[in-house]
Amino acid sequence: MKQQTWEQLLENNKNWASAKKEIDPHFFNRLKEQQNPRYLWIGCSDSRVPANEVTGTDPGEIFVHRNIANLVVHTDLNLISVLQYAVEVLKIEHIIVCGHYGCGGINAAMTHQSYGLLNKWLRNIKDVYKHHRNELDMITDPDEKSNKLVEFNVVEQVLNLAQTSIVQRAWKERQGPWLHGWIYRIEDGILHTLCEMPPNHPIDPIYRFDLPE
Ligand code: CO
Repeated sequence: MKQQTWEQLLENNKNWASAKKEIDPHFFNRLKEQQNPRYLWIGCSDSRVPANEVTGTDPGEIFVHRNIANLVVHTDLNLISVLQYAVEVLKIEHIIVCGHYGCGGINAAMTHQSYGLLNKWLRNIKDVYKHHRNELDMITDPDEKSNKLVEFNVVEQVLNLAQTSIVQRAWKERQGPWLHGWIYRIEDGILHTLCEMPPNHPIDPIYRFDLPE
């Protein structure tokens, strides 16, 4: 892998901007006015899974939130703020939770190593493991086990989204957004659909909020 200096990054940026302008002279002018993305991407911070690049989208098309192992934690002020803004102000039509095989966060959560503060974050993944222990404990191959937990984790985070009052209110008011669980395979660059939740999809009743008409 090529290692670029920070000076090169700034140089690349100039080249990118002028190439963009060459193809479409009004590209940046249009973006200056406002952003109007249809998608919210909740992905892993992993440098190998850049939201725009793997989906062939341009600036302005995807609102992005990334954290270790693409978690939707209902007490995470950062994620919840992004979610609320995306759903209520930008009126996002689709939320994509995208995990990836070989996820370092998932693998770390499967060990017994203590990582200090990071333990608090990885704890959420351990809870997903516990939830699916019967199936996961039966898998002996470590990669296969990790991949399965990656998948369970994505599905769990999609459920976590549906359990927020933000998503439930939007479902009631405007029959959106759709929720999607995707997996990215680093070795071939391909995205796979894992699960999908259309607006007003039934959820575990304990998480349902009574919302004013
Ligand atoms: Co990852």
